[in-house]
Amino acid sequence: MSDTTLDFTDRVAVITGAAGGIGGALADLLARSGAHLVLADLDEAAVRARATSLSGQYPGRAIGVQLNAADAASIDELIELARREFGRIDFLVPSAGIYPESLVADTDDELWRRVQSINLDGVFMLIKRAIPLMPAGSAIVNLTSVAGHRGSMGHAHYAASKGGLIAFTRTLALELGPQGIRVNAVSPGIIDTAMTASARAAKGDEWIAATPLRRDGTPEEISATIAFLLSNAASFVHGEVLHVNGGLFMAG
Ligand SMILES: NC(=O)c1ccc[n+]([C@@H]2O[C@H](COP(=O)([O-])OP(=O)(O)OC[C@H]3O[C@@H](n4cnc5c(N)ncnc54)[C@H](O)[C@@H]3O)[C@@H](O)[C@H]2O)c1
Repeated sequence: MSDTTLDFTDRVAVITGAAGGIGGALADLLARSGAHLVLADLDEAAVRARATSLSGQYPGRAIGVQLNAADAASIDELIELARREFGRIDFLVPSAGIYPESLVADTDDELWRRVQSINLDGVFMLIKRAIPLMPAGSAIVNLTSVAGHRGSMGHAHYAASKGGLIAFTRTLALELGPQGIRVNAVSPGIIDTAMTASARAAKGDEWIAATPLRRDGTPEEISATIAFLLSNAASFVHGEVLHVNGGLFMAG
C-alpha cells in the first residue's frame, strides 16, 4: 500500500514565480510540510526575503534566486543551482506568468511574443532542463487558467499561452509517465493575487456574479490543490487538468 499523506519531508521543490501570490502560498505550504525549496522569481529581493523567512521558521532549506523565466541562460543557472545544492528535483511548479490586457487589434508582435516567451516557452525550457534531475516518483504541476479552456476577452495572448500549456501538459504526461514522473495542471479561475488586481477592480462584480460560490479564490486554495497533485495522495492522477474556480467554468 503506498503512502498517501501530504508529508513532503526532505523532498526538493523548485517553484518559479515564488514571489507571487500562488507560488508564494505554495512555498509556505511545502515548507510547513518539510520540503527543501528552490524559489525563483524576477523579483529578486522579494524571493530572497521569502526564502530567508521560510528557512528561519521550518527545518527544510529554502534558497531564493533571481530568474528570468523567458531566458534560457537564466533557467540553466537555476537548474545548475538545484543540482549543486540538492542533486535532484522531486517537485517542479512553474508558476511565473504575466497577464497583460490588450485586445488582439491592439496587440503588437512584441507583446504577443513576450507573453508566450514567459508563459509557454519558459515552461518548456524549464521542464526540459529539469527532467534529467527528476527521479521516478517526482511530479510536475503546471499553472494553466480558465482562459486556456474558454478564451478571455482582452487576453488572447494569455489564453493562447495557457491553452498551449494544457496540450503541453498532456503530451508530457504521455512521454514522462513511463519513467515515473507524474505531470498534471491546475486551472484556476479568478484568484485574489496581484496578477488580477486591476482586472478585478474593473470586472470583479461581474466575475463574482458568474461564480456559483460567489467569491474569488485565494492563493492558498490553489496551492492546496497543487500540493495534493504533487503528493502521494495523487499517486495515480496523471495527465489531468484540475479546475479550481468556485464553479465558474462549469457554470459557463
Ligand atoms: N491569479 C489568478 O487569478 C490566476 C488564474 C489562473 C492562472 N493563474 C496563473 O497562476 C500563476 C501564478 O499567478 P499569480 O496569481 O500568483 O500571479 P502573481 O502576479 O502574484 O505572481 C506571478 C509571479 O511571476 C513573476 N514573474 C513574472 N514574469 C517573470 C519572469 N519573466 N521571470 C520570472 N518570474 C516572473 C512575478 O514577479 C510574480 O512574482 C501564473 O502562471 C498565472 O497565469 C493565475
